[in-house]
Amino acid sequence: MTLTKRTIKLTTPFTDQKPGTSGLRKSSSQFETPHYLESFLEAILRTLPGVDGGTLVVGGDGRYGNERAINIIMSMAAAHGLKKVITTTNGILSTPAASHLIRSRKAIGGIILSASHNPGGRNGDFGVKVNGSNGGPAAEALTNSIYSCTQKLEEYSLIDIPKISLQSQGNQQIGEMKVEIVDGVEDYVVLMQNLFDFDLIQNFLLQDFSFIFDAMNAVTGPYAKRIFEDLLNAPKGSVLNGLPLEDFGGSHPDPNLTYAKDLAELLLTKKQYSFGAACDGDGDRNMVLGKGCFVNPSDSLAVLTANAHLVPGYADGLKGVARSMPTSSAVDAVAKKIGINCFETPTGWKFFGNLLDANEITLCGEESFGTGSNHVREKDGLWAVLFWLQILAKRNTSVEEIMHEHWTEYGRHYYSRHDYEEVDSEAASDLYSNLEKLTPKLVGKQFATGTVMLADNFNYKDPIDNSLTTNQGLRIILDDSSRIIIRLSGTGTKGATLRIYLERYISNPGETRKNPQIVLSDLITSINNLAEIPKMTGMNAPTVIT
Ligand code: G1P
Ligand code: ZN
Repeated sequence: MTLTKRTIKLTTPFTDQKPGTSGLRKSSSQFETPHYLESFLEAILRTLPGVDGGTLVVGGDGRYGNERAINIIMSMAAAHGLKKVITTTNGILSTPAASHLIRSRKAIGGIILSASHNPGGRNGDFGVKVNGSNGGPAAEALTNSIYSCTQKLEEYSLIDIPKISLQSQGNQQIGEMKVEIVDGVEDYVVLMQNLFDFDLIQNFLLQDFSFIFDAMNAVTGPYAKRIFEDLLNAPKGSVLNGLPLEDFGGSHPDPNLTYAKDLAELLLTKKQYSFGAACDGDGDRNMVLGKGCFVNPSDSLAVLTANAHLVPGYADGLKGVARSMPTSSAVDAVAKKIGINCFETPTGWKFFGNLLDANEITLCGEESFGTGSNHVREKDGLWAVLFWLQILAKRNTSVEEIMHEHWTEYGRHYYSRHDYEEVDSEAASDLYSNLEKLTPKLVGKQFATGTVMLADNFNYKDPIDNSLTTNQGLRIILDDSSRIIIRLSGTGTKGATLRIYLERYISNPGETRKNPQIVLSDLITSINNLAEIPKMTGMNAPTVIT
């Protein structure tokens, strides 16, 4: 069959991608406007190193638009000289599984179709994420090149192909290009079996320990059923909402106390299970709950670090750890005690990539329900759940006990994030720039619970390639180790999202069972007043409190 390449001229310039972001996240309807998706894909295919003759991994979280996008990618990939595209049955591929596939198949990178935890469906959001050959989100240099390419794009090319069926595994040929359809779950499950002791966890689940996992009608359903119900023998039905749906059943697939509130209620109010967990739309985020006990993600990273020696995949010790700047300092305390380095990076997983590649760190995490390790180059929701199960099984204890013992040993970093969503963009940027001017003047003065030691806008020099990333969030750090961080979200799609991160350290073990909102109340009041949040945003309370 001879296939002809077509070139389509663009009449409207493509201006939507923000510089420095490793993908594009917009409404589904925006992605359906003519030439929109194609324009961004063209910029990726022109920029990603190794396209000519290379192998590309493609898949997504199953949201509305997934299969359409996979077909468009095939027709454009064939026009750009790729040797092979690896995709999955029904196009289902979690973000961490995609990262693993890119690495294990030595692909030049991947295109992951997801808007992560944003709602999906015809009226929801869609997204295209670009990963490099290390399996991680495209690094700063690549994202900047993709961005510059979008700025001067005049045309894109494709080859017309019949619609490719993704129903079953197998190989197909499009002209010179091979399409390999694999099971997107299998390789990932084998990787997990290599890191964790499945027999030990299976025995533990048979004891007086009840387990529930909420896949939120998103990508982790098939992975979780295979791992928990088939391999670890958790009772059938332990995986809730296990079927990936195009609109996630109308829900917001973000595993936090607001959007996974049914699960939270089962654990925190009704106390029906010993352990509960959930993952987000594309499977890279996790939330972990014990009976009557919410584990905040910053603490989770600290607990995984302190107990990593109990996990076969990490029994040889950790090289170092990293956390994003707004993540609490709980992991720093553990790193100090076990004598390893702890790096502080800007928000976003891509900043961990160089440290992982250079073997400077083994574990890393963010306060936003992201935890991961050097096994892939993305955060990994199910991996974190298995890590917790392994620790619980090995120590034969409960989540609540682990947390209590942890705080008794290290003190507790009380922590909360307040989000103000869908704020008018101009009001949010005014609020931020006012604060940027005000905060440096606080140094040396009394603020909330202490004296301000440092107030600045966080800049980061990558320790591996020395690249500089500036203006990553305002920090106010007090002499009692309290911290307040203020950032504007880079991932929201409606208006602006203002995030306020609050942290206070209490070393006295007897004082570690209080409500964080009460312990943090002085910090909350002080920043609300300084930033004039109610006046500037027109909102009296945050939309999400974590
Ligand atoms: C949010 C989180 C951040 C995470 C990103 C992608 O970004 O805060 O930690 O890396 O989503 O999952 P933000 O909206 O704050 O820019
Ligand atoms: Zn995600």
